[in-house]
Parts: sequence; structure tokens; C-alpha cells
Amino acid sequence: MALERLSRRTILTLLVVAGLSLALDLVFGAFRFVRTDDGDEWSVEGSVTLPRPRDQSDVSVEEAIADRRSRRAYSDRALERSELGQLLWATQGVTDRDRGFRTAPSAGALYPLEVYVVVGSPGVEGLESGVYRYRPGRHELDRGRTGNLQSELQAAAVDQEFVEEAAVDIVVCAVDERTTRKYGERGRQRYVPMEAGHAGENLSLQAEALGLATVSVGAFRDDRVRDIVGAPADQRPLYVFPVGGRA
Ligand SMILES: Cc1cc2nc3c(=O)[nH]c(=O)nc-3n(C[C@H](O)[C@H](O)[C@H](O)COP(=O)(O)O)c2cc1C
Repeated sequence: MALERLSRRTILTLLVVAGLSLALDLVFGAFRFVRTDDGDEWSVEGSVTLPRPRDQSDVSVEEAIADRRSRRAYSDRALERSELGQLLWATQGVTDRDRGFRTAPSAGALYPLEVYVVVGSPGVEGLESGVYRYRPGRHELDRGRTGNLQSELQAAAVDQEFVEEAAVDIVVCAVDERTTRKYGERGRQRYVPMEAGHAGENLSLQAEALGLATVSVGAFRDDRVRDIVGAPADQRPLYVFPVGGRA
């Protein structure tokens, strides 16, 4: 009888411990998710709303594809906020709110990409020079470090001078873990870079349709670019897109 009571108590204790550990895992698992997805190691100094993206254009998709070129010469004008918003929407904007789907496809709809903007001077009308992070769900920018960081970015990008001459540099980073969690090494080697390619081509075609100039830049020091945009250590920069008016 005593043995039976003891074993019942033991079973009860084990159940409580298991329940507690499950609850803790859920809670801390949720925190982990928030930390990586919202990158809250990134210190946010406020947010900036972007104009609603347009869904009409005088330029057809075919024309944009046919005319797209790597353009490395930029005018001195600042971008309009609507132009920047449109470019970011094309890169990673949300197009299906119910399911959270975006403009570019993503393996398992896990969305590993994070998009930053290094705004120069003159960069974007009404925006201070500095680093911003695009929030696809809200179609907003979070503001990070202020100051003109384009010359640092140019140095990090093996001194390609057009990186500093552009109005802005859009930096596409990836949180590999979001994809490798489900797909393992294949996610890191293939899916994540493929997704950067999808997003980058959207950005390039949107720039073409807006009559802007951009070029895909892959030559840079990853660690330095990561530091400049203030991305957490679990993110790797994959692409830099200088963008400006055409010279
Ligand atoms: C993955 C990748 C990395 C690239 N990196 C650079 C770069 O660092 N600097 C640069 O000036 N162009 C870069 N380019 C642009 C290519 O030089 C350009 O696409 C190529 O010359 C063809 O010209 P087009 O884009 O006008 O068709 C890169 C393109 C790709 C796809």
C-alpha cells in the first residue's frame, strides 16, 4: 500500500516535472523565435512609416526584364520615400496577409531574409542618414544607428566607389537558422542563397520599372557589412544593392 502510494506520488511528481519542462521549453522557444525573427538585439531608435506600395506601372514585366542592366552611376538626387518603400516591398513585402506570404518565394515559407537600408546624404527625402531595418509585416522601417555609413560600407565592399555614391544601399542578410531548422545543411547551402536571388531580382526589376539605377554587389567582407548594419551574429549578409536616380 505504502509502495503503491509512493509510486503514485512519484508518477505525479514526474508528470509535474515533465509539464513544467514542456512549459519552459514553449516559453523559451517562443523567446528564441522572437529574438531571431525580430532581431531584438538590434537597438531600435524609432520607426518610420512607408507609403502604401503601388500595384500599377507603365512599364511591363517584359520591358523591365529586357531593359534591366547593372547600373553603377547615380545622380545626386535623394530618393522619394515612396520609391524606397516600393523597392523594399518588391524585395520582401507581404502580399498575402492571411498566410504571411511575401513577394519572393521562400522554402517552407520560413522567410530567412532580413533587409537593411544604409541611407546616405542626400539619401531619402525626410530620412536622416543612417541604418534602417525593413519590417515587412508593417511595411515600416525601424531606425538604427544614425550618421552616414556609406564610406564604411564602400570600404567593406572592396572599395567599389559606387557603393558610397548611391542614395542608399539595400543590404540583404539571412538568418540561416530559420531554414536549417527544417531543411538542415541543404537549407544553408541552397535554399537561403536562392531566396536572396529571388528577392534581389525583384528589387532589380522594380528599380528598372521605377527608372532607378542599381547593381547586385556580392564582393564584400561579410563581418564588416554585418557590423555596419548592426545585424546580430546569427545573420550573414548576402547581397548589397546600391540604388539611386540614374546619372
Ligand atoms: C552574385 C552576383 C554578385 C555580383 N557582384 C558584383 C560586385 O561585387 N560588383 C559589381 O560591380 N557587380 C557585381 N555583379 C554584377 C555583375 O557584374 C553583372 O550582373 C554582370 O556584369 C552582367 O551585367 P548585367 O547585370 O548588366 O546584365 C554581381 C552579380 C551577381 C549575380
